[in-house]
Amino acid sequence: MVTHRIADGLAFGGDYNPEQWPAKVVDEDLELMALAGVTTLTLGVFSWGTYEPTEGRYDFDRLDALLDRLHAAGIGVDLATPTAAPPVWLLQKHPEILPVTRTGQRYAQGGRLGWCAASPVWREHALRIVEVLARRYGSHQAIRLWHLSNEVGGGNRRCYCDESAAAFRRWLADRYGTVDALNLSWGTAFWGHRYATFEHVLPPRDSETIGQGNPGLVLDFDRFSSDVLLEHVRAERDVVRRHSDVPVTTNFMVGAGPHVVDYARWAPELDVLSNDHYVHAADPHRAQDLAFSADRMRGLRPDQPWLLMETAAGAVSWQPRNRPLTPGELRRNAFGHVARGADGVLFFQWRASVAGAEQFHSGMVPHAGPRSRTFREVVALGADLAAAGEIAGTIVEPARVALLVDDESGWAWEAGPKPVGDLPLANVARRAHRALWSRGVRVDVVPTTLVDALDGYDLVAVAGLYLMGERTARALAGVVGRGGRVVVTHLSGIVDETNRVVTGGYPGVLRDLLGIHVDEMVPLWPDEDVVLDNGWRARDWAERVEADDATVVVRHRTGPLAGEPAVTRRDAGDGQAWYVSVDLDDASLAAALDGAAEGLGLAPPVPADPGVDVVRRTGPQGSYLVAINHGETTARLVAGGRELLTGTDVEDECTVPAGGVVVMRERA
Ligand code: GLA
Repeated sequence: MVTHRIADGLAFGGDYNPEQWPAKVVDEDLELMALAGVTTLTLGVFSWGTYEPTEGRYDFDRLDALLDRLHAAGIGVDLATPTAAPPVWLLQKHPEILPVTRTGQRYAQGGRLGWCAASPVWREHALRIVEVLARRYGSHQAIRLWHLSNEVGGGNRRCYCDESAAAFRRWLADRYGTVDALNLSWGTAFWGHRYATFEHVLPPRDSETIGQGNPGLVLDFDRFSSDVLLEHVRAERDVVRRHSDVPVTTNFMVGAGPHVVDYARWAPELDVLSNDHYVHAADPHRAQDLAFSADRMRGLRPDQPWLLMETAAGAVSWQPRNRPLTPGELRRNAFGHVARGADGVLFFQWRASVAGAEQFHSGMVPHAGPRSRTFREVVALGADLAAAGEIAGTIVEPARVALLVDDESGWAWEAGPKPVGDLPLANVARRAHRALWSRGVRVDVVPTTLVDALDGYDLVAVAGLYLMGERTARALAGVVGRGGRVVVTHLSGIVDETNRVVTGGYPGVLRDLLGIHVDEMVPLWPDEDVVLDNGWRARDWAERVEADDATVVVRHRTGPLAGEPAVTRRDAGDGQAWYVSVDLDDASLAAALDGAAEGLGLAPPVPADPGVDVVRRTGPQGSYLVAINHGETTARLVAGGRELLTGTDVEDECTVPAGGVVVMRERA
């Protein structure tokens, strides 16, 4: 296990962009940071234009002075390479760096992440500034972490320019070896799309004739786009590593997915994993969205803590209606991440901008200044995180339930025409997580890249995993073979890794495991609500299922498949393989998962009233419970030890106030 500590306890702080402010504001900032207990600041995310105002003329005076000052103040620095923001002079001189859209239009300057990862000119300039920075600060004592670029893929996920096309062709030649193998995989015999040579392949640009894009081409272009961005990140990392022993990260944007790049394949390349997560103010289930993101984040590397690199202390500025967090939400959100393995909580940004691109985005210090609810909550949070600091370095106790996810599968679902055009399949996994979360059951979200590590799980859920390779299918069969349970929902295992449909009855690679045969997909009309014979309800999706070697658990009562099987179970020794062929509503999905989990005794780590989310983290220093009460009434938590936020001893039971948080060091 690798552990890198970027702060002495839990890290607390945020992005700091002081070039926006006169010196006296920076002086005030340092006082306020001390008051709030800030331990960590991310510097320089967008500072290239400040470091190098004109080509080859560098000015690091401000950064030199700031780093020394922060070090003297005991604040550790997460120093960013500034490649999220190529300077205007560079884009003026080399507009070919800017990405091109699928309709062939080159982006203009004025945004950020305005670069194509396949551009050699970009690569040269980017690595030059990284080199200058890493050489200068590689051994500066203030620096505890390197932050490579920022949310890579967030503005430049795909570029369709000629450089990208050439790089894509090289990538394809590498992947397929022969153009015939590519032709077979993409099914180009149809519509006369056969390629005689790799040289004829283009990115999936807008075609002037009818067509929605070849799904094989589109998926491979997404894979390539993720790989070429990763190649850039690796190149920056290698430059940094030549000058510094300090760990490197790059901030992910892990949500319900599918993501802009394939984080499961990126994760092994970094020393520390970090995530940016913003709640959507209008989402009534936003606490669960946060838990899903954090569980998904931890699943990328379960044996080490991660870092919440960015969240908002108040409102963001990019949602349709930007409402601030409700009172107390900041604390619940922060501990929501800590509970699920974060070793720090950092915000974007320290002080809210008064001008520029993010003028109305909150900061830890809002426009109103320190005399504000947000800043008061920020100060209180700093104290809470300091009080809970000893939890840093511990690992979240493994769950008994795993949920499989895969970005490639999500991309494949979005690539090309489908039997239903408006079904966001990624929501099925999020809803399955929510069903378990609302029952207090913890879930490890496991990427399919780690599918060989399913040994410890009693229940494995596969929700809308449209693309599935043999390796995943074998691992699932292994779970059932050793007496575990597998629950598979609709639209899983439809295509293989080459994005070709597996024939002979859906769901191709899982047919034998589930003991079923599906011959027809039957999407429901948008307003069609189907009732099953036990009262459960389904919408959007149904299938004609035959149970060859499985028991029918529930049948359709109404709708186009009345009387046909809807949910089945195959018993194999002590193992069970469930199939849910319809898109169940939330309550029915939760009930179906209850059915599949019957007798397993899944429960929170310690008894707690409903509505309390409890997670255990353990390490050499002890065992800790983080309990968050999402309800509106005081709740009971049956646990004894030392409550760290209040500094009180608890005999064997305590209360968690409505909307409150408890962090308990359990009695040894
Ligand atoms: C992202 C970026 C930040 C900032 C925030 C605003 O997370 O990384 O620089 O723009 O969004 O929410």
